Amino acid sequence: MAETYFITGAQGCIGSWIVKALAERGDTAVVFDRSDDMRRLTAIIAPADLEQVRFVVGDITDAGSVMAALKGSSAKRVIHLAGLQVPSCQADPVAGAVVNVVGTLNVFEAACAIGAEKVVYASSAAVFGRSEDDVSVDETAACEPATHYGVFKRTNEGSARVYFLTHGLNSIGLRPLTVYGVNRDSGLTSDPTKAMKAAVLGVPFHIRFSGATDFQYVADTAAAFIACADASLPGAHLFNLHGETVEVKQIVKTINHEAGRELATFGGDPIPIAPELNDAAIRRALGDLPATPVDAGVHETMKRFGELRDAGKLDTSDIEVELRQYAR
Ligand SMILES: NC(=O)c1ccc[n+]([C@@H]2O[C@H](COP(=O)([O-])OP(=O)(O)OC[C@H]3O[C@@H](n4cnc5c(N)ncnc54)[C@H](O)[C@@H]3O)[C@@H](O)[C@H]2O)c1
Repeated sequence: MAETYFITGAQGCIGSWIVKALAERGDTAVVFDRSDDMRRLTAIIAPADLEQVRFVVGDITDAGSVMAALKGSSAKRVIHLAGLQVPSCQADPVAGAVVNVVGTLNVFEAACAIGAEKVVYASSAAVFGRSEDDVSVDETAACEPATHYGVFKRTNEGSARVYFLTHGLNSIGLRPLTVYGVNRDSGLTSDPTKAMKAAVLGVPFHIRFSGATDFQYVADTAAAFIACADASLPGAHLFNLHGETVEVKQIVKTINHEAGRELATFGGDPIPIAPELNDAAIRRALGDLPATPVDAGVHETMKRFGELRDAGKLDTSDIEVELRQYAR
């Protein structure tokens, strides 16, 4: 039987791919987002599938709106993604905390009030902070976030545990690191995807970090969120997500190989997050999850960007600076 899922922040990158996967299998996605900008959804979802999706425009910082929308959706499975990313939290930590921490509390409160089966929420690998060595970190590793964003995500993980202890609310927090693919257009680790888009347009792009990071293809991230929303796992769980740990140098090589010329470059400090996550725990709990190799994910992404370019539908607002510089 078709299920209904209430998804906050589903006009964003990961959310758009979750909505796509749910719509394609005949389930109902209820999108709760403060934005009504459909460009990410239309970039990847067929019009007929998009017709099955329901929309509520609202702000997660407004407890009443979240409560009313969740009640009205009749959904029992909540996927919570809405939030501000590292640069926004850095620029305005107070606003970041209101959205990422208070907003998340609003979602948990509403989920308790309607008797939700569970909340699957986006935490982040940013809870770990920098690691001194190259070991793969599992869920028992110390959490010493190097950003406000990471601190807020860690706080949400604690709140999820408290809601289970006090209200019996089941939850799963997922910790992705560098998600890439069509629609990854904002946030600290979005540069590799922007470089892929620029390359498809024949424009140079400089990725502003170096070192290795854990790249996960966005369709695989979406699949993990859905698998968690469908799983019967009582408790408050936390799982790392892992794709492939690859040097930025290698991604640049792959992009340039796909483009057939040297358009992508890189430089700068590594990002302050442990570069490799161990995902044995989620695989033990849920079995095998899709794991697209980086080369295949980059190929798939650049192919879709090319199709959107040819159809005159490629959104380039995230690489305007590079386009302007190139045009000079
Ligand atoms: N993309 C990654 O690599 C990555 C890695 C780790 C964790 N995460 C987390 O996953 C989640 C989704 O990431 P994404 O890349 O899809 O982000 P995104 O920035 O593409 O999308 C976020 C969405 O949240 C919405 N939103 C923001 N503030 C809101 C508010 N106050 N009320 C309602 N909606 C609001 C935005 O309109 C947007 O559609 C976020 O919580 C993010 O922190 C992402």
